[in-house]
Amino acid sequence: MDLSTTYLGLELKNPLVASASPLSRDVASVRSLEDSGIAAVVMYSLFQEQIEHDAAEQDHYEDFGGGSFAEATSYFPAQAEFPRGPDAYLEHLSAIKEAVGIPVIASLNGSSPGGWMEYAKGMEQAGADALELNTYFLATDPETTSEAIEQRYFEALASVRASVRIPVAMKINPYISALAHFAKRLDEGGVDGLVLFNRFYQPDIDLDQLDIDPTLTFSAMYEMRLPLRWIAILDPQLKCSLAASTGVYNYTDVLKLVMAGASVTMLCAALLQYGPPVIGRILEGLTTWMAEREYESVRQMQGSMNLASCRNPAAFERGNYMRALNSFTPNA
Ligand SMILES: Cc1cc2nc3c(=O)[nH]c(=O)nc-3n(C[C@H](O)[C@H](O)[C@H](O)COP(=O)(O)O)c2cc1C
Repeated sequence: MDLSTTYLGLELKNPLVASASPLSRDVASVRSLEDSGIAAVVMYSLFQEQIEHDAAEQDHYEDFGGGSFAEATSYFPAQAEFPRGPDAYLEHLSAIKEAVGIPVIASLNGSSPGGWMEYAKGMEQAGADALELNTYFLATDPETTSEAIEQRYFEALASVRASVRIPVAMKINPYISALAHFAKRLDEGGVDGLVLFNRFYQPDIDLDQLDIDPTLTFSAMYEMRLPLRWIAILDPQLKCSLAASTGVYNYTDVLKLVMAGASVTMLCAALLQYGPPVIGRILEGLTTWMAEREYESVRQMQGSMNLASCRNPAAFERGNYMRALNSFTPNA
């Protein structure tokens, strides 16, 4: 069975990529992902704040999740300390590149274009095979227009695109009103891939402490339907490759996302909760299903269920929306 795929111009042995997460904080964990069959790894992000602020201030920016993933730590070495600062990040990236044969994608994460983006060059020099740019930003100011928000992404892409030769992907969020247009502009701006989607963390309120509870919750399985829909819509309309991130847990998710047009599917919560063995289980399920249905390759399936042949995707989506609502019958 040929599971190979091409993402950002990189030839990958299968469509499973470890998305940015604490799993890349140590070399041994990345090696263990490789040994379990992962095709590529995205490193945890180097944040704009880590580049622009000194070490004391950095402590203010807590790393994702803190100690809220007790179960996850049983699969991987304890990671109390990990390379955080910009130089340490680049050294760590080089060490990972030395240790594994799979492509390693570095991740740069910020909210406004600026000098910190120079680190893209450092990532390229440290051996990154590609770069993922994450512009996590929540538009809370009612005076800020959607054009201004989108402009941040376009400028960020242009700045990074101009400074490196390696492929550049952008991890975007779904809360953009004209997402297809936005994606097309990034495509025209030279992005090599879009990661759909960045999962915005949503804080809770702690009623006992009357405080904000920033604990991260893992995605639920049904959340893969959001990237599924958008990949099916965007795949026929863009040149760049598409990666699915959010809610990928099992081989059926991978099949659906690939059929919608994803070049790769990214795993984070599945790996954090079930450890590297989940990779082998997904690959086995994928291979068995494909063999039973006489598929020979992943490429053969890619995009087979996208909306290329749909003349009016908006009307199609609206029709399905009404059909879904009307199909529900409440109990008498
Ligand atoms: C503990 C944790 C740490 C993460 N760290 C990063 C990060 O450094 N950079 C980034 O772009 N995304 C980060 N993410 C987001 C994931 O890469 C992924 O996009 C998101 O969790 C949705 O995928 P999932 O449903 O497979 O978890 C993190 C997610 C988790 C749960």
